[in-house]
This record gives sequence, structure tokens and C-alpha cells, in this order.
Amino acid sequence: MKRLFMQEVATRDGFQNEAVFIETADKITLINQLSECGYAKIEVTSFTSPKAIPSLRDAEAVMHGISRKPGVEYTVLVPNVRGAERALGCGIDEANLVMSVSEPHNRSNLRMTREQSFSQLSEVIGVIGQGPVAINVSLSTVFGCPMQGEVAADEVLRWVDRFANLGVRGVTLCDTTGMAFPSQVRELSRAVIERFPELQLTLHFHNTRGMALANALGALEAGIDRFDSSLGGLGGCPYAPGASGNVCTEDLVHMLQLMGYDTGLDLDRVLAASALLPGLIGHETPSQILKAGRRLDLHPIPEHVHTLSKQLPSNSAERIS
Ligand code: COA
Ligand code: ZN
Repeated sequence: MKRLFMQEVATRDGFQNEAVFIETADKITLINQLSECGYAKIEVTSFTSPKAIPSLRDAEAVMHGISRKPGVEYTVLVPNVRGAERALGCGIDEANLVMSVSEPHNRSNLRMTREQSFSQLSEVIGVIGQGPVAINVSLSTVFGCPMQGEVAADEVLRWVDRFANLGVRGVTLCDTTGMAFPSQVRELSRAVIERFPELQLTLHFHNTRGMALANALGALEAGIDRFDSSLGGLGGCPYAPGASGNVCTEDLVHMLQLMGYDTGLDLDRVLAASALLPGLIGHETPSQILKAGRRLDLHPIPEHVHTLSKQLPSNSAERIS
């Protein structure tokens, strides 16, 4: 059974987009619950400016408050050196750096040019150094940019190469606004694996156009074994027009388990955690499996069917017990 590695992003990518402030204690309780589900990694929070992302202004308190389970990596988003210093003070396992491979998206999301981002992130990588804290770089808009349109695969490879040369452990290919389609995902994933076999490669999909699960299949065909996903399908990007939720963890895991993959996740526990979200965020989530149940969660046979069966002759093949 092929082992896959699942990385939960709801408490960062999800919560950064919620209008209400989720209480610190509630965040901690949820993350502790997620730690018992079998994730390889949990993206706990973001050490960004509290003015830019007020809903994650309690990053230190959350990182210090959670119980860390051995075997689970706790990663956080780090936008700059200031964020790196704050995050290092909390004993993170990994720093997740972010920039866009498209110029207009980088300018709107991070308010600087890609070159400025690269030099800032190079500085962050220098501050974190080659110590125990791993570094991942999430590259946004690699499958298309809502302002620029197509993003060339060569351009993506060029940015991966620049970060690989700085010694990062991993790179995440992000479909920030749901522009990816399965064959594109397969081809780009193959190209990155072929050229950078030593990188820990993650795929990060948004379901903006309903293609997230199909894109995960495209990634699997290329040999990808690591996925970001978000409990309940929360998420988006505050600076990307029309962006909507990440691929939903329980929907993705439900599909992968049916196909015989070992995701490491306990789906019952994931669903129990997902069921808490509406109470925390004040609205329903786009989760399908939470609404519909698993494929073989059977429904009771309605009473009128029993009544009907009593009227059938006892030897009837149609009889329903
Ligand atoms: N932690 C805390 N405060 C920070 C900070 C950090 N990591 N980085 C900057 N700040 C504060 C500064 O101290 C300054 O505060 P002040 O106004 O009280 O003096 C303010 O934020 C602006 O700082 P500046 O250095 O001018 O940064 P900026 O305005 O260019 O913002 C980012 C840079 C990256 C911090 C900001 O654009 C940002 O966080 N954007 C959100 C990115 C994001 O997470 N997007 C979603 C993920 S894809
Ligand atoms: Zn995202």
C-alpha cells in the first residue's frame, strides 16, 4: 500500500481568511485534536504582521500552547526575518516561506517584487541556518495567475532551482486560485521530481473550479506522495480575487483510502474535528463527506419499504429483510 503524507493547513491557510477571530484556546484545542489524527505535518499559524492578518495575531500563544506529538511536524508560515525570529523563539520544526512565481500576484500579496521577495527570503534562510529547523518554500500561482494568466513551467523550475541552491528541504507547488488542471499538474510535477529528486515536494490545491480532487489524481500519477489539505475545505488567499477553499482534507482522504492508499490518517477523527469548525467560524464548510457521509455509511431502510415487503409473497426474490 503506497504511503502518502498529509499536511493540514486549516489553522493557517483556513483561519487567515475567516472574518471572526477564533479564540486562542479554541485554536489550541483544535490543533491538539488534529495532532491525534495521523498527519505528517500541521501548519499551525503564521508569524506575519498582525495588521496584515489579524486573525492569526496570537501566533506565539498558539505555538506555545499546543501539545506537540512526537512524529508530527509543526510548521508555520514565515514572511520575513522578523517573522523568522518570532517563530524560532517558539521552537518550530519547520518554517514555510512564501512567494509567488507571478510578478503581479507577488506584488498584490506581499507588496514587493519577486526579486525583493527572493532577497528577503534568502535573508530568512540565512537566519534559520542549517540547524534543526527545516525550511520549505511555498511557491504560489505555479499553475496560473489570476492577473497574469499562464505561468510557464520553465519559470516555475527557475524559481525552484533558485531555492534548491539555497539548500531548502522542501518546495510546495501551490495552485493558489484553482487554475490547475490534472494533466498540467502531472506534467509539472514530473518535471520538478525529475530535476530535483532530493527535494521534499508537496502539492497544494484549491478547489476554486472544482478540480482539486482531480488534480490530486494528476499529482499521484506523477509520483507525488505529499499533499496539503484543509479540514472542511477552509482556506483561500485574501489577496487573490475569487480564491476559495483548499482541497478538503476529509474529501481527499476519503477518496485516497478507497483507492487503497495509506494516508496515515484516521478519517473518523478527522471528521470529528471537521464537525467542530462551523461552531468556531460561524458558518458551514464546503466539506462533502461531512454532509453526505462516507461511501458506505448506510442509511436505515425507510419504514414504508418494510410495509411494502410484508405485502410481497414470502418466496419473492424482491423481499427485503
Ligand atoms: N511580525 C510582526 N509584525 C510585522 C512583521 C512580522 N513578521 N512584519 C512586519 N511587521 C510589522 C512591522 O513592524 C510594521 O509595523 P508598524 O506599522 O507598527 O511599524 C508593519 O508590520 C509593516 O511592516 P513593513 O516592514 O513595512 O512590512 P510590509 O508592510 O511591507 O508587510 C508583510 C510585509 C510580509 C509582513 C505583509 O505584507 C504581510 O504579512 N502580508 C501578508 C502575507 C500573507 O501572509 N499572505 C497570505 C499567505 S499566502
Ligand atoms: Zn493556499
